[in-house]
Amino acid sequence: MAASSTSSFVVVANRLPVDRVPESEGSGFRPSPGGLVTALEPVLRSHGGIWIGWPGSSLGDDDVFEADGLKLKPIELSDQDVEQYYEGMSNGTLWPLYHDVVAKPAFRREWWDAYVQVNRRFAETTARCAAHGAVVWVQDYQLQLVPAMLREMRPDVTIGFFLHIPFPPSELFKQLPWRDQILKGLLGADLVGFQRPGGAANFARLVRLRQGHKTHRDKILLGDGRQVAARAYPISIDFQRLEQLAKSQSVMARTEEICREIGGDRRILLGVDRLDYTKGIRQRLRAFGELIVDGAISVDDAVFVQVASPSRERVQQYVEVREDIERWVGRINGNLGRIGRQPVHYVHSSYPREEMAALFQAADVMVVTPFADGMNLVAKEYVTCRHKNDGALVLSEFAGASDELKQAFLVNPHDINGLKEAMLAAMRADPRDLSRRMRAMRKQVREHDITAWANAFLADLAA
Ligand code: F6P
Repeated sequence: MAASSTSSFVVVANRLPVDRVPESEGSGFRPSPGGLVTALEPVLRSHGGIWIGWPGSSLGDDDVFEADGLKLKPIELSDQDVEQYYEGMSNGTLWPLYHDVVAKPAFRREWWDAYVQVNRRFAETTARCAAHGAVVWVQDYQLQLVPAMLREMRPDVTIGFFLHIPFPPSELFKQLPWRDQILKGLLGADLVGFQRPGGAANFARLVRLRQGHKTHRDKILLGDGRQVAARAYPISIDFQRLEQLAKSQSVMARTEEICREIGGDRRILLGVDRLDYTKGIRQRLRAFGELIVDGAISVDDAVFVQVASPSRERVQQYVEVREDIERWVGRINGNLGRIGRQPVHYVHSSYPREEMAALFQAADVMVVTPFADGMNLVAKEYVTCRHKNDGALVLSEFAGASDELKQAFLVNPHDINGLKEAMLAAMRADPRDLSRRMRAMRKQVREHDITAWANAFLADLAA
């Protein structure tokens, strides 16, 4: 349905909250992947406004339209844009660089050119969709040039920027051949938000060192008299909505079914991730396999369920990580399983929210082991679904969520022995200890939900 094409509140993100399903697969829309969408969809729903982004397939720019009560403005990416701006500069250069160089970033000049061009198209479309004096909220590493480009086109609008992934220390960021352009792009915003205080501090340090701007506490003082604030706003989820879903009869019934089917009297350990090399999936599977080999657990008392949703499948490093993980699953099941008793259940697929809520409730231990992660909303989703205050969370100290979920079993995912100890401790913990931990974590997420996050950011932006 066509809808009014300007608004006083505009969210700009690489992806729309829904992907357009190609005609060959039945057409229509499906929720798009990733934590950004999970977090921001309820924000747009409550604030109204327009969401500008890519519908995940190259079908042509359309007018603003309405889908499931949200006003959406699609931006087309050509096959070449997808290859150079999305798979190339965004996910072949910036993603590994910002995630502690877990994989090697590639620096390609044609990718950079495409990144500049696509960012300009996003800025131009935003300039057309924003009403006079509008608040524009630009999201994530794919669009870091948009704030400055938009400010030049539309000095009347207020611009916020939020980075959903880690912002690296200057020693890594300085490798980027286009480091100064990115910093200038971000400084076009009035407020730049990060997941963790360390990200905000890295950014402030860089603009001081490289651009010579003065900083005072969390303010950056630009030469032209403008001030830019750089602060941490740890992102969250819609606690109420997810908890309600988890408590629904259908989800509870499905939980019981999953426990019967794969658990029985076995403890269920669970991993849920986009299939990404930053997530430490192999390390957690390896730790689990070694626990069986050591005799600490057996295939009769524990099972590991790994849901890996397909992601960025044409990027070489993602092809390799999939092969690697599937080799490990095969090896563990082949060496340690027997007919009818698989130690690892692995699915390369994404599931609807209902199924995920049931899985979270079925899992005795949730294992979240990224090497670097802006926040990791899966950890917060698990905690939200545990409305009986049971279950254990094993969480990497390198995930932003570890700042808040301090009662988790915190681990360094590079340390396989430490990981084994934490998984074992989580499986063997006293239920009273688990309940105490879970209550504290649930309180934290309930009191710092997505509404609190959006309100804090938008209030500071308005101020
Ligand atoms: O949270 C990081 C992020 O890259 C988001 O920007 C994105 O929505 C999500 O992960 C999924 O990634 P992609 O859009 O590349 O599938």
